[in-house]
Amino acid sequence: MNAVIRGTGACTPEKVLTNADFEKMVDTSDDWIVSRTGIKERRVVSSGESNSDLCFKAGQNALEMANISAEDLDMIIVGTVTPDYYLPSTAALVQDKLKALNSAAFDVVAACAGFLHGLSIARGFILNGNVKRVLVIGSEVLSRITDYTDRSTCVLFGDGAGAVVVEAEETGDQNGSGLLSSYLRADGSKKELLWIPIGGSTNPITPHNVEARERYIMMSGNEIYKLAVRAMCDAALRALDQVGINTEQISWLIPHQANIRIIEGVARRLKIPDRKVYLNIEKYGNTSAASVPIALDEANRKGMLKKGDYILMVAFGGGLTWGASLVRW
Ligand code: ACO
Repeated sequence: MNAVIRGTGACTPEKVLTNADFEKMVDTSDDWIVSRTGIKERRVVSSGESNSDLCFKAGQNALEMANISAEDLDMIIVGTVTPDYYLPSTAALVQDKLKALNSAAFDVVAACAGFLHGLSIARGFILNGNVKRVLVIGSEVLSRITDYTDRSTCVLFGDGAGAVVVEAEETGDQNGSGLLSSYLRADGSKKELLWIPIGGSTNPITPHNVEARERYIMMSGNEIYKLAVRAMCDAALRALDQVGINTEQISWLIPHQANIRIIEGVARRLKIPDRKVYLNIEKYGNTSAASVPIALDEANRKGMLKKGDYILMVAFGGGLTWGASLVRW
């Protein structure tokens, strides 16, 4: 049995925030943002637009490409740290919007690595023979938890959603198309490097902590930066090891689009040349769980992914969480 990606989809909001917009909001410059991060613009939702709206459209696009109807889905998994509500899950809202009447639905909270966690769970369920078709989505509306007075974080984040439809394929060929391996890790001891201190059950929201601007993402960017490169490389090599593939055999590296310098560091250490690294960070910024599936969908729709290609996806984010997945197209 293989778990094969049948379709990809994405949805990014219309509204664009450029670096010039940030020059008017905080003490920053286009030059600083581009040279330190590679970001030129990012998309943000408008009022009334929700995470589940983005998921719905990305999911629809993926289902359309897969030529699979929503009623045929057995499971919907949404990786997100910006759910519409704490209760119910965003996946349940997507199930309703898609009218996926025969589907289970749940969210996965693993920050920027959320989509890769969802993909790994989908693969497990499929290989166990429990389900046949899973819609895996990574989606965020980070603009609603971004402090637009904090220049060290606000220039980084954007909103969007990406999705894939994964389907069981009966085959004896273990090296055929599909999700070949995945490696996931976490280190909760470093939670304070990237977190939102209030709003959960430990520190419920009060007028005082809202006033202190603690309801937004707080990040020790420089420390995360150093940990990210090492962890992403390690995860990538372990995912490749599971199937005996080396980095020279990789056709595409699709990394979490957090920072161009992190991506270049990872590619350099893995000895993957620039021409094999898919980048779209300049258009969308860091969209956390959405960034890998948005990039995968873009590359797919541009016809860059060929049958038989080995595609390596890697991500690192809050938790801390990180991981890698290898797909054969
Ligand atoms: N404009 C101008 N100056 C700025 C800005 C800005 N927007 N932001 C910070 N600075 C200043 C700082 O104040 C500092 O000034 P100082 O030296 O006078 O104190 C200087 O720039 C350098 O700051 P650093 O934080 O050391 O800058 P660095 O080179 O590390 O870049 C960045 C910062 C872009 C955040 C980088 O550290 C990074 O990308 N980190 C990783 C982010 C990441 O991958 N997060 C994980 C995923 S996100 C998720 O899970 C939701």
